[in-house]
Formats: sequence, C-alpha cells, structure tokens
Amino acid sequence: KNIALVAGGYSGEYVISVQSAAVIEAQLDSGKYNVYKIVVTRESWTYTGANGANVDVDKNDFSLTLDGSKIRFDAVFIGIHGTPGEDGRLQGYFEMLGIPYTSCGMVTSALTFNKSYCNKIVAALNLVNVSKSVHIFRDQPFDAAAILQQLRLPVFVKPAEGGSSIGMSKVNKAEELPAAIEKAFKEDSQVLIEEFIKGRELTCGLFKTNGAITVLPITEVISSKEFFDYEAKYTPGVSQEITPAQVPDTVTRRVQQTAAELYNKLNCRGIVRVDFIWEAATDKLYFLEVNTMPGQSENSLVPQQVRASGRTLQEFYGMLIEECLA
Ligand code: DAL
Ligand code: MG
Repeated sequence: KNIALVAGGYSGEYVISVQSAAVIEAQLDSGKYNVYKIVVTRESWTYTGANGANVDVDKNDFSLTLDGSKIRFDAVFIGIHGTPGEDGRLQGYFEMLGIPYTSCGMVTSALTFNKSYCNKIVAALNLVNVSKSVHIFRDQPFDAAAILQQLRLPVFVKPAEGGSSIGMSKVNKAEELPAAIEKAFKEDSQVLIEEFIKGRELTCGLFKTNGAITVLPITEVISSKEFFDYEAKYTPGVSQEITPAQVPDTVTRRVQQTAAELYNKLNCRGIVRVDFIWEAATDKLYFLEVNTMPGQSENSLVPQQVRASGRTLQEFYGMLIEECLA
C-alpha cells in the first residue's frame, strides 16, 4: 500500500509536526507500507526522494510523478498539527478526492480546533465541567475591564485556534490582560479568555478500530513552569509526565469514560487526546480541550501512553492505517 505521510503545515507548530512525522515515519512498518513523506507549506507540497530531488504533489488528485510513473495513495496519514491538518481543511480536501485519511472528519476537526466553539459544544453535552470563558474577535470591539467583570482572575488567554501553547499566557493581574490579548491576537484573529482552574492536569489518548474505542492509560502532567507551556511541553526535564497517572482509580475511570463519551458525541475518528483538569479539592473534573492531531514527537504524550498500554508504536500506527483503509 502507498501511504502519504503529510507533515509541516502553515502554523507555528510546523516544527513539532516535523518531529511527530519523523517518529511516525520511523515506526510505520516498511514491510507493509510504502511511505512517502510530503511536507506541506504555504509555498509547496513536496516529496523529497532518496536522491534528494524534490517533487511537488499534483494537487488535482494528490499524486506524485516519480521516474515517469504516477503514484497514487491508498491512504494519508495526517501528521500536521494546526492548520491545515488539524482544522478540517485537508480533511475536506481528501474527502473531495475520496482518499481515506487517518484523522477525525472535516466538521469534527474544524469544530474541535476552535477552543471556544468546542467549549460551548462540550458544555452543552453536560458530561464534564467547562471553565467560564469569553470569546473575542480582532475586528470587533472589546473591553478588557468588562471581561474581568465576567471572569475571575487568574485567566488563561489563548488564540482560539492554536496549539502547543503558542501565543498563550496566564494572567494573574488585571493590568496584564491587554498585553496578553495582544500577544494572542498575533497568532489568531479570535481569542479565548478562560478562568484558570487550580488542579491536576490529566490527559487521555484514545482511538477507535472496528467500531470499538481503545482508551489508553492516562497521563498526569506536572509542569515546573507556571503552566504546561511550549518549553515545558517539548524540553525534556521541564515537566514531569507520569503515565499511568497516580490519582485515585475513580478519577482515572472518570477521565477515561468522559474522554470516550466525548469521542463518541463529537464523532471522532483516529487518535484523539482529551485534556482535563481535576480539581481535587472539589473532586470536579474540568474539560480543557480535544486534540484531534495529538503530538507524536519523542517528547509527546500519546507515544508514552501507547507504550504504557503494552503496544509498540509500530502496532499502534499500523492499527490507525488499517482502520482508515477498512
Ligand atoms: N498540539 C500538540 C501537538 C498536541 O496537542 O500534542
Ligand atoms: Mg492542544
């Protein structure tokens, strides 16, 4: 089977995508799959052959012409975090071409990628607590002081459509809010301002094969920074990631069950990671976000959870490909 592994993307998560794709490429079974890594940027969608020559994809049918013969793909492994691989754009494109791909569908990807719209949908499902938040738009007036009448400090300020904590700040004092909003607007035209929940960060990867969901062991993230920011996420040693999380079994089960219910209700496909905060003092579980293209780099959480589940990454990526080919 010919598999295209798409990597790169148009966002600040390009670097992480390249790292994720390197792991996926190394772990896809080369006896079963001919893997062609295609790096997607705004400028070009390019495959680099073993001889170092670059060949651009024909975007009309997502094919490659190598040595005079046309290569078509049986499936695409989407390895792009952020736009256009996690927000429904490539999903829509591959749907139009009828090429199977490994991630959630177009609508689920788009809805979950916007943290504010996703919060609203998850809150309406009534499965888990969702932090209070305000959603603002660059081209619509907003009043930072009025926002703080609705929300209690500290707050998180996040680009609504982003990832890896790029452009994100924790605001402890009212006077810090305007600069944090400005920083987030550098990354996106929409910003989410959300009440901080003091608790333990727990995250759960899960995927579906043959109609059944497999829920992986959950991870607790303990950051030595003020929050699990970009540096804490990708610099070994800056955060502790404990899999399986050392929390009461009832909490583990609640996280896994809630993640599975959200997976179903949001009509997910492929590997998804759902992040939560458990407020131990009140025993309340809060939803943080759904990642439909969770990191697969050496420092990412899902590969740790897969290993902790007793599977090899090769088995895991093989399962994702076989499911999307079925
Ligand atoms: N956005 C990063 C890659 C993650 O969720 O793991
Ligand atoms: Mg994320």
